[in-house]
Amino acid sequence: MCATRATSRGPLRVGILGQGRSGLSIHARWFEQSPRKYKIVAIADLLAERRQRAEKEFGCDSYRSIDDLLGRDDLDLVVNSLPSYLHPPATIAALSAGHNVVCEKPAAWNVAQLDKMIAAARKAKRILAPFQQSRYRALFRKTLDVIDSGVLGRIVQVRISANGFARRWDWQTVQEYKGGNLLNTGPHFVDWAVCLQGFKKPDEILCAMDRANTWGDAEDYVKVVLKKKGAPVIDLEISSCDAYPGDMITVQGTQGGLSGGGSGLRWRYFDPKKAPKQKLSRKPLPGPSYCSEKLAFTEKSWAPSKAQANAFGWMSKQFYDHLYKSLREGAKLEITPQQVRVQMAVMEECHRQSKLSKLPAKGWPQGNR
Ligand SMILES: NC(=O)c1ccc[n+]([C@@H]2O[C@H](COP(=O)([O-])OP(=O)(O)OC[C@H]3O[C@@H](n4cnc5c(N)ncnc54)[C@H](O)[C@@H]3O)[C@@H](O)[C@H]2O)c1
Repeated sequence: MCATRATSRGPLRVGILGQGRSGLSIHARWFEQSPRKYKIVAIADLLAERRQRAEKEFGCDSYRSIDDLLGRDDLDLVVNSLPSYLHPPATIAALSAGHNVVCEKPAAWNVAQLDKMIAAARKAKRILAPFQQSRYRALFRKTLDVIDSGVLGRIVQVRISANGFARRWDWQTVQEYKGGNLLNTGPHFVDWAVCLQGFKKPDEILCAMDRANTWGDAEDYVKVVLKKKGAPVIDLEISSCDAYPGDMITVQGTQGGLSGGGSGLRWRYFDPKKAPKQKLSRKPLPGPSYCSEKLAFTEKSWAPSKAQANAFGWMSKQFYDHLYKSLREGAKLEITPQQVRVQMAVMEECHRQSKLSKLPAKGWPQGNR
C-alpha cells in the first residue's frame, strides 16, 4: 500500500502538525540532525509564537490551520504530533489529502478508530506509520536478543514497570483530550507487551486504574495483566505514585532471569544439563530440612553505548532511518498499523474494565482549528 509521492532527489520534504514537546522537541529536532534525509518545509500550530519560532529556526512556512498545511502538494511526509484526541481525524484528513503520515502515539484509542485510519491509508495508497519509537529502545532490543538466545529457558513472565512519583496538571491528565497514563505512556509499553506475546490479542486482560496525584480526570495509575496461551504472562504497571520504582523490565524464565532499565541490564542462567540431578521426594525431607542445592549461574550484563544512552535520539534515528527506506525504496514498515491494532484492543478493554468519572467537556482552549 505504499505508492508514495516522495520526490526522487534531495531530502524528504516534511510538514509537522503541532510544535510542542513532540512536534518540536522530538520530531523537528531529529529532522534537524538528519538533513540529508529530511527537511522541514512546513509546520502548523495554533500558537503564534510557536509558528514564528519555527519559521525562524527551520526557515519553513507556518500555518495556523492544519487544513492549509494539508492542502500543499509538495510534501513527502506529514507528522501528526497534535494532542492525542486529534490523532484519528487529522491523520485521516492528511491521508485523504494524499500524504504519507507518521502518527504520534496513541495512534487512536480503539480498534474501530484505527481501522478507519488504516482504510484511509489503503484508499489513498499512502503509508501510515505509527510512531512507536520505543520498539527500538536499546534495552528492549537487547532483552529480546537474550530471550531469543534461549539461555533463560521458557519465559514464564515479563514484568514491565514505567513507574515514578510525579504530580501532573496538563492536558495529558484529561480524558476529553485522550490523556491518562494508559494512552500517554502506555503505547510504549503495551507495544512491548504485545510484541512479547507475538502481536496476538491476549486471551485474558485484567486492568485496574486509579487517580492518585493528578489534577485531571484521567488515570495516573494503571495495572494490566495479560495472559496468552503459549506466551509469557505480562505484568505491566504505569504508576505515578510509586516512590520506590523498581527495574523497568524483569524477565522470569525456567533457566534464569533478566532485569534492568535504561542504564543497563543483567541476566543470569544455569545449564540444566550441568545442574545436580534431583528426583521428586514425597517423604518428609530428613532433618527436617528444605530443598537445597547450588546452581552454577552464568552472569552477564549489558550497558547501552553512548548513542543508545540518549534514548530519544537513538529511537528517533532508528525509526526515521527505516522510514526513509520505506518512503524512498519501498521497504516494508517494521512497525505496522496491524501490530498497533493489538495494542488498541488491549487499551480498549482496559478502559472498558476501569471507567473513571469525567469532568465536563470544555473543548481545546485555543479551539480545534
Ligand atoms: N512518542 C513520544 O515519545 C511522545 C512524547 C511526547 C508526546 N507524544 C505525543 O505527541 C502528541 C503531542 O503531545 P505534546 O506533548 O507535544 O503536546 P504539547 O501540548 O506540548 O503540544 C501540542 C501542540 O499542538 C498544538 N495544537 C493543538 N491543537 C491544534 C490544532 N487544532 N491545530 C494546530 N495545532 C494545534 C498546540 O498549540 C501545541 O503547540 C501527544 O499525542 C503525545 O502523546 C509522544
